[in-house]
Amino acid sequence: MDRIKTGITGLDELIQGGFPKKRSILISGACGTGKSVLSMQFLYKGILDYAEPGVFVTFDEMPEKLRQDMLNFGWDLAELEKNDLMALVDATSARVGTPSDEEHSILPGQLDVDRLLIEILQICRRIGAKRLVLDSIPAMAFQLDKESEIRKTILKIVYMIAKSGITCILTSEVSEQSLGGASPVKFSKYQVEEYVADGVIVMGFLGSGSQSTRTLYIRKMRGTKHSLEIHPIEITDQGVIVKKVEDVFR
Ligand SMILES: Nc1ncnc2c1ncn2[C@@H]1O[C@H](COP(=O)(O)OP(=O)(O)O)[C@@H](O)[C@H]1O
Ligand SMILES: [Mg+2]
Repeated sequence: MDRIKTGITGLDELIQGGFPKKRSILISGACGTGKSVLSMQFLYKGILDYAEPGVFVTFDEMPEKLRQDMLNFGWDLAELEKNDLMALVDATSARVGTPSDEEHSILPGQLDVDRLLIEILQICRRIGAKRLVLDSIPAMAFQLDKESEIRKTILKIVYMIAKSGITCILTSEVSEQSLGGASPVKFSKYQVEEYVADGVIVMGFLGSGSQSTRTLYIRKMRGTKHSLEIHPIEITDQGVIVKKVEDVFR
């Protein structure tokens, strides 16, 4: 199987060398677990280390804020955008109903999935993107209220992306409780994401307060013999680092 290096320190060796190429990987977890940082790192390192242009579609945050936040890791997105190696697509403004002054933005009339996908895939083609991030699925599906519509939409996204030859990260929010406790475990908001995605990575916290550790585990990765452990991770000023339990508790 062809693989694509993730750019996340310590992750590739847990999944036989990288994400399966041209597939969709779901990153799920509660808010603040590092989904957006990890997704951006996948794009940023993809460009710098592997010369693969990338597109980040943001439904939750304003692009300008993302550019600022990512500077904390030394990632200068504006520089990459200037050179057409990265495109930040503003879908947040359309959702909120404010005009966008971004070069790449989704118009309010383009929020239905068919138009949205066409627009996104056009931008991907324009810069020759090999990597794509849709952050996040719940925000993207916000205007859909029927479960059946949401399922169809997510299926369509994954199918179109597979045909386009791009490797894609989708993010999804899950509340903390649904990952533990007695209730059935959910790894994604609508559950259909976790079934149709080719891989599912779950990010979270173990413990509480100053004793808490960030965690990551690989719930599913099609065609891959992967680690089944819960791995401690760190978000440092270099980005996300995935560790092994034995390296941390020695
Ligand atoms: N420069 C940094 N150094 C260390 N941790 C950071 C840094 N920037 C952000 N973080 C951590 O990452 C979290 C945000 O991660 P994010 O990817 O936005 O979460 P999610 O998308 O899952 O909601 C912050 O709450 C903070 O704990
Ligand atoms: Mg986020």
